[in-house]
Amino acid sequence: MSSALTRKITFNDLRRVRDGGPKLAMLTCYDFTTAQLMQRAGVPALLVGDSAGNVLLGHPTTLPVSLAFMIEIAAAVRRGAPLALVAADMPFGSYHGSVSRGVRNVVRMVQRTGCDCVKLEVAEAHLDLVRELASAGVAVIAHLGLRPQAVGLVGGYRTQGRTARDAHEIVALSLQMQRAGAAVLLLEAVPAQVAKVVVDSTNIPVIGCGAGAYCHGYVFVTHDAVGLTPAQPRFVPKLGDLATPALAAFEEYVRQIGGGQYPGPEHDYEMLPGELAKFLHAGKRTTVLES
Ligand code: KIV
Repeated sequence: MSSALTRKITFNDLRRVRDGGPKLAMLTCYDFTTAQLMQRAGVPALLVGDSAGNVLLGHPTTLPVSLAFMIEIAAAVRRGAPLALVAADMPFGSYHGSVSRGVRNVVRMVQRTGCDCVKLEVAEAHLDLVRELASAGVAVIAHLGLRPQAVGLVGGYRTQGRTARDAHEIVALSLQMQRAGAAVLLLEAVPAQVAKVVVDSTNIPVIGCGAGAYCHGYVFVTHDAVGLTPAQPRFVPKLGDLATPALAAFEEYVRQIGGGQYPGPEHDYEMLPGELAKFLHAGKRTTVLES
């Protein structure tokens, strides 16, 4: 039986999760072809994460990722999965400086990609921006806990909310974001007990990325889960091994070239009937004229 999506997934589906509906499966996605596959597989929500900077571009952090790049790939994912809920990450530096600059860049992202919502890594300083976006009708996913774009400040990719004080700050910021109009919270790398308090004290959906089992939905970097990266965080499930068949296919190509099997006559294009003789004859004349 096909599990493909058959209707558009909207924010109402996400809200239903909060009311006890089935939990939301979200995966990161960065390109048209994979988006098509994910829609066919029935993945309801795709996050065009700035983790693309790591897994597609090979940067050690997400900081070099540009807005233009995120817009390009988010639009590709939208084209590949028109029925999925597509969330686009706003990259480092694109929503800082002033509220009006942040709004302008978010509007650019929404208009040029057709994404359903945007994700911002938030601190208290972003409350006005979230408020402004919500009043403009933009669905915002407020990303708290570990914020990879703030790696310089945080001093590494560490679990957040491990002390009572830090945990209180995460809960307090979650509530402030909800009041400011955030549509969804995303908690990255926080203890499950802290995520539970966030879930219990708010009334909007909470998506977990290494935040335990109490959340309403889950997300992680797809490449980690399908064996395409050398090391994976412990919270990522093992969903498959795409590296082994990919390696075998690439090796097979090298073998076919080495063994002379490729290209064979079955791979050739042909000229139109009668054109080959004319072409070769004309070629001979040109050679005579040139000599
Ligand atoms: O960029 C990203 O992929 C994320 C995650 C939550 C995995 O922000």
